[in-house]
Amino acid sequence: MSDRVYIFDTTLRDGEQSPGASMNTGEKLRLATQLEKLGVDTIEAGFPAASEGDFEAVSRIAGKIERAEIAGLARASKSDIDKAWGAVQHAAKPKIHTFIATSDIHLEYKLKMTRDQVLQAAIEAVRYAKSHTPTVEFSAEDGSRSDPDFLCKIFEAAIEAGATVVNLPDTVGYAIPAEFSELVKYVMAHTPNMGKAILSVHCHNDLGLATANTLAAIHAGARQAEVTINGIGERAGNTSLEEVVMTLHTRPNYLPMETGIRTEHIYPSSRLVSMITGMMVQPNKAIVGANAFAHEAGIHQDGVLKNPMTYEIMKPETVGLNRNIMVLGKHSGRHALRDRLKEMGYDLSAEELQLVFGKFKELADKKKHVVDEDLEVIVTEGILRTSEVFKLEYIHVTCGSTVMPMASVKLAINGRSVKDAAYGNGPIDAAFNAIAELTGAQSELLRFSVSALTGGTDAQGEVTVRLKENGLMALGKGADPDIITASAKAYINGLNRLEYLKTHPVEKAQHV
Ligand code: KIV
Ligand code: ZN
Repeated sequence: MSDRVYIFDTTLRDGEQSPGASMNTGEKLRLATQLEKLGVDTIEAGFPAASEGDFEAVSRIAGKIERAEIAGLARASKSDIDKAWGAVQHAAKPKIHTFIATSDIHLEYKLKMTRDQVLQAAIEAVRYAKSHTPTVEFSAEDGSRSDPDFLCKIFEAAIEAGATVVNLPDTVGYAIPAEFSELVKYVMAHTPNMGKAILSVHCHNDLGLATANTLAAIHAGARQAEVTINGIGERAGNTSLEEVVMTLHTRPNYLPMETGIRTEHIYPSSRLVSMITGMMVQPNKAIVGANAFAHEAGIHQDGVLKNPMTYEIMKPETVGLNRNIMVLGKHSGRHALRDRLKEMGYDLSAEELQLVFGKFKELADKKKHVVDEDLEVIVTEGILRTSEVFKLEYIHVTCGSTVMPMASVKLAINGRSVKDAAYGNGPIDAAFNAIAELTGAQSELLRFSVSALTGGTDAQGEVTVRLKENGLMALGKGADPDIITASAKAYINGLNRLEYLKTHPVEKAQHV
């Protein structure tokens, strides 16, 4: 059996189904470029039949990425498959990923189809996809709750019809590692032509077992893992890429398998996903959380100083966490900045570099040391968010213990400058009131949180907001040395995301 495990990244498809985590096309392109740099084998770029926006994003990614396969998701229907093919056809390595549910509960209540009908639909879908492209994946949705013999039957038929990968999802995050491992072994042993395809697994994290189930499946013989960066995804999320990859990397004695992942790009990829989606990584998250390599207990610190292997099973540098490698300050020049950005994975045009350099100088005037996290904010806000409807031009706030807080705000709305002032209970409330007046925002603020981007009293404040309007939900993120400005930026970012969702509606029912 091959010792190579293929990494199929679905951050742009299943990951984007996290509540509020929508990304615009520019952000998706940027993330796809980073995923390619990270070394994933497949990028599932979206679900082209879900919306025009998804279709466009998948086709633009397909036109740009050279090394990784680009997969488009499709239900087992000709029209979905045509859409998926339409979107991925210009990729250097196109792939169609088609799926249908196989569990009795889905057949009876959702699909209202018999097993024979589902089997037939799967065969036709794979055959039709295969008439477009040689690389076809078939997924048995809710596979972990399906009859194992029916799974084997449908996988055998899908492989016979041309599937190169068959995927066994734990769609509702119900499986237990030992049980899932048995299922994988059973399917491998009882699907006669399994040797002609790769067996993949796709786990959800409803019981917090997605990584454990994926690793148990790999140990049992599966050779593709479907994952997302930071484990983002529908409900409790998907298996996290960094956890699976670093377990294989750290425990070759138990799991002697390789991936094509360049582990030093893990941390930058995690940061990028967090910046783009607005979804913060919990501090104690394995591998990429802020505390993942922080030793607090004296006894541990002492041990690590004497020999890092006493308490550290991985080196932070292995995942690209090089905090102290380079610090830029106001005397740093354009070349130093360009080189650092390049190392971080940002290949900017001369024009973009000029813009980032200006913002870097502004920040370096306020903050002694500019570190990677600061640069990420500058690139995200300055380059990735350029096509937004609302942009902050300035904010001025009056507040204190004896005055009524008041904010005056100037925005560009589709390029036209407008300004207004408003009072509030506090300076942030005043700023939000002024912004709401100017934009006509009707949204409800569900969550507001502030944290420091890095250590030190001059650190930038990072604000995340969660907004809801007419059933649409969006996260917004903003960072600035001034916490009120950071809040205004986060609110405006959230409003921009809502605008994007209004113009790129995704039919929720089509999300899987
Ligand atoms: O969770 C799931 O079953 C899926 C399939 C489309 C693979 O996302
Ligand atoms: Zn899924």
